Amino acid sequence: MKIVLLGAPGSGKGTQAKLLSEEFNIPHISTGEILRTEIQLNSELGRQIDKIISKGNFMPDELMLEIIKKRIFMPDCEHGFILDGYPRSVDQAKTLSEITDIDYVIYLNINHQKVIDRLSNRWTCVNCQKSVIDANSKKCAFCGGELSKRTDDSTEVIKVRLNTYEKQTKPLISYYESSGKITEIDADQEIDKVFSDIKMAIN
Ligand code: AP5
Ligand code: MG
Repeated sequence: MKIVLLGAPGSGKGTQAKLLSEEFNIPHISTGEILRTEIQLNSELGRQIDKIISKGNFMPDELMLEIIKKRIFMPDCEHGFILDGYPRSVDQAKTLSEITDIDYVIYLNINHQKVIDRLSNRWTCVNCQKSVIDANSKKCAFCGGELSKRTDDSTEVIKVRLNTYEKQTKPLISYYESSGKITEIDADQEIDKVFSDIKMAIN
């Protein structure tokens, strides 16, 4: 089963992808997490990536395609995968369609103000990468790891990301509508409810 999760920054793609990955035993492929891992390595490439994504801009298509091609043909993707953050534009979707067929596209719909609230309060565990909104304890509720803030989660950069999403990613909705594979989900509900709606869409 090959699933694409589509939605604005903060719509819950990562949260739902992790749940789906556990439920269906297929890997969660987050292009954002792959890029952030490279940044953590502090390689020359990582420093270049950091300059781009900390401003809320997109990485070049050619690099993203290289990353995706390498990842989706790994042995653990034999029974499918969940794509979180790719494709992010109609051009990327067209390129993807040349290398694989997608079964389901899930569009997580949420309004922008909600996204700003969520992302400006988001903390991510440096150990297990899970994200939490309530960081009162300053420790990860899942594994006890340290919590950190993403460099692109400042109010200013969140606005740039939303703007880029509107211009580049939103046209993907009508692109996928013509294939009949897309289902819109109300992403402004409890995490469990969003998850059960997604499962209903793919069953
Ligand atoms: P990426 O990491 O994909 O970031 P994003 O799309 O901006 O999305 P987020 O990860 O911020 O949000 P999410 O939808 O995963 O929500 P989450 O589950 O965390 O990409 C980062 C950057 O990398 C891009 O800006 C770009 O520069 C680059 N990049 C990546 N892919 C690329 C590509 N293909 N081409 C070019 N460049 C690329 O949830 C958010 C918060 O809300 C969390 O705290 C969570 O706990 C909480 N939450 C989730 N669901 C709920 C709910 N239902 N109710 C209440 N709280 C909730
Ligand atoms: Mg994410």
